[in-house]
Amino acid sequence: MANIALYADDAIKLLMGLEPASLDEIFLLYPDPWPKTRHRKRRFISTATVAEMARVLRPEGVLYFATDIKNYADWTLAHLARSGAFDLAPGALEQAHIPFKGWRPTRYEQKARAEGRATSLYFTFTRNRTKPEVAEQGLLPGK
Ligand SMILES: C[S@@+](CC[C@H](N)C(=O)[O-])C[C@H]1O[C@@H](n2cnc3c(N)ncnc32)[C@H](O)[C@@H]1O
Repeated sequence: MANIALYADDAIKLLMGLEPASLDEIFLLYPDPWPKTRHRKRRFISTATVAEMARVLRPEGVLYFATDIKNYADWTLAHLARSGAFDLAPGALEQAHIPFKGWRPTRYEQKARAEGRATSLYFTFTRNRTKPEVAEQGLLPGK
């Protein structure tokens, strides 16, 4: 494959270097769950990263998010709802246990199954057009 580039650093730095509305899709697959309450601020999903993802996704662009930790799913749903920049299709919550079309389990998912964590949750969020100011500015310094 000739069209793959790897970035071996913090993904937020990569996002911050991208032009607004420059991506069609983002896949956030099993980000570290940080299950302890006092560690949740380390989760990849935060107000700032959601704003950055909203900024770099084109309108109608898609954010795919998978986790096997229900609390992280709730956390993500709350952050994205608060941002106002993403929509979920009707029925998405009820169907969240259905993998993405063409899905091939990641290494983490295979490990989770082997360790007895039987279910995952899969969400497909669409970047909407209702908050253009998020796309222009983001929330991180330097934008
Ligand atoms: C639970 S693993 C899942 C790996 C893979 N997506 C899978 O499903 O097999 C989470 C991964 O996210 C990486 N990670 C955590 N924070 C990151 C960040 N800010 N930027 C890029 N990668 C990060 C970790 O190094 C780890 O490899």
